[in-house]
Amino acid sequence: TPHTVLLATTKPFARDAVGAIKTICEEHGLVFEKLEGYKDRAELYEAVATAEACIVRSDVCDEEFFSHAKNLKVLVRAGAGVDAIDLPAATNHGVCVQNTPGQNSNAVAELVFGMLLAHKRNYFDGNSGTEIRGSSLGLYGCGNVSRFVILAAQGFGMDIYAYDPFLTPDQIADLGAEPLYDVPSIFKCDVVSLHVPATRETKQSIDGKLLRSMPKGGVLINTARKNIIREADLLKALVERPDLSYLADDKPENTEEIKESLGEARVKKQFLVTPKKMGAQTAQANSNSGIAAAKQIVEFFRGGLVKHQVNINGKHF
Ligand code: 3PG
Repeated sequence: TPHTVLLATTKPFARDAVGAIKTICEEHGLVFEKLEGYKDRAELYEAVATAEACIVRSDVCDEEFFSHAKNLKVLVRAGAGVDAIDLPAATNHGVCVQNTPGQNSNAVAELVFGMLLAHKRNYFDGNSGTEIRGSSLGLYGCGNVSRFVILAAQGFGMDIYAYDPFLTPDQIADLGAEPLYDVPSIFKCDVVSLHVPATRETKQSIDGKLLRSMPKGGVLINTARKNIIREADLLKALVERPDLSYLADDKPENTEEIKESLGEARVKKQFLVTPKKMGAQTAQANSNSGIAAAKQIVEFFRGGLVKHQVNINGKHF
């Protein structure tokens, strides 16, 4: 019997991307099913009960999910971050988990500049703004997203610095950024952009001390994950420092509190959040990551190369 592939997304992919995933599956003799915009977990559990492969986005895949996914062999996160997936649970249930690194990186990098430029021009309200040429840019994490951020920042004439604990200084220099040696040094830059995954090491790692150390007029851009920031510290820093700004694509839990504390005029000056995480919400990113996920599943069932597995031999990446 043919294998069933379930596309399960609370935040749906663009139409064309879904069509491309379906086509790849069917061309390779796989049965394609989809569950988009599901409202409760029961719907997901019912849909995944018979699937042998599943494609998800930021959908939470916990122990309960895996216990319902009785036939599941492979779970592909169409995207980069696997923080919503319980990897030890997947391993215990014998499920191979993969991601599709790099496929939506350019989309995220473009959002960084979209938010930064709109902010620097006062959201186009007619008031005089400021330029970014000559500003320093500090990148915490220098992976796939930062590579695209660096290319754009070079065009804008920024002074680019980066720190990444997994890269050597030479590797960072080769990518076009000046290597820095720790996180506090990054926070000395005019604009700081976060490009690290949410891991045991990074969660809650951006604290008040780092926020307060930013230079006058500092802008912190977070297109990574909200939980790498200590949100109580963020609120405090924004209130204490009217010159600091936070632009984010993953809405802080305390967004309402931040807005109330700052008041409307300062919110406009200091605080931008997208209503839904939308860094990867482009036609191209949806297609790239969806197609990559479908191809990885085809390859998995063919017994070919297992790409980008994130739970190998009990190790979880
Ligand atoms: C990622 O980790 O790839 C991005 O955060 C995109 O997440 P999304 O698929 O939920 O938009």
